[in-house]
Amino acid sequence: MNQALICVSFGTTVPAARQEIEAVERALSAAAPDRKMVRAFTSGMIRRILKERGETVYSLPEALEALRQEGTEDVFVQPTHFLCGIEYDKLRAEAGAARQNFARLRVGRPLLASTRDLRALAETVAALYPARQDGAVVLMGHGSAHFANVVYPALQTIFELGGRPDIRVGTVEGWPALAEVRRSLEQMKVRRVHLAPLMLVAGDHARNDMAGEGPDSWQTVLEQDGYAVTATLEGLGRCEAVQALYAAHLREDLTRD
Ligand code: CO
Repeated sequence: MNQALICVSFGTTVPAARQEIEAVERALSAAAPDRKMVRAFTSGMIRRILKERGETVYSLPEALEALRQEGTEDVFVQPTHFLCGIEYDKLRAEAGAARQNFARLRVGRPLLASTRDLRALAETVAALYPARQDGAVVLMGHGSAHFANVVYPALQTIFELGGRPDIRVGTVEGWPALAEVRRSLEQMKVRRVHLAPLMLVAGDHARNDMAGEGPDSWQTVLEQDGYAVTATLEGLGRCEAVQALYAAHLREDLTRD
């Protein structure tokens, strides 16, 4: 096959989270049936841990080099990343560096690349977690030092304008953080909180920072605040509607010249 699709993810060492990445990969592959699918993970640390376990996963430059050696002419690089942040910039630079090795090389969009994408994701997530009396839904996003972090307060606004102010958006490494979420919960006077990852996979952050047993996890802190806390430990990659959003981007980009 002379055309390839490289599905690029941050990566994970958690087997259940790996299934979530693979579910998105399958949806992407189905949207590009005449392309050979190749997996790449951007995290060097994750690739090292997997290698110690006996599994080799390519970095993006390695995947591009393998395809060059096979004589692939047309490559589409599709990230499974959430937003156009630091990882996405890096991936574009890495793809750009290999451009001369192929007749054609394109880079697709992450899940959230437009206002329409944000609204579609908000609608999907709102449907997953219906409003409950006396309850709030707290979503944990990753967060970024990159300007693209604005997707989190933007999603918060979309939930509020869409009649779901009970859904609160926080991030582990960006803004808003848990402090802002706690302040809004206090104003809402709810008693029950449901935690869920606003991430592709329920990996280390969801299992430890969100719903872990440690003293700093969001679940522990919110329980100490007096809320009855439940949690979903599934990443959005498992959700068919989210897979469809990724696949729709890819289909659109593949038909555009
Ligand atoms: Co992180």
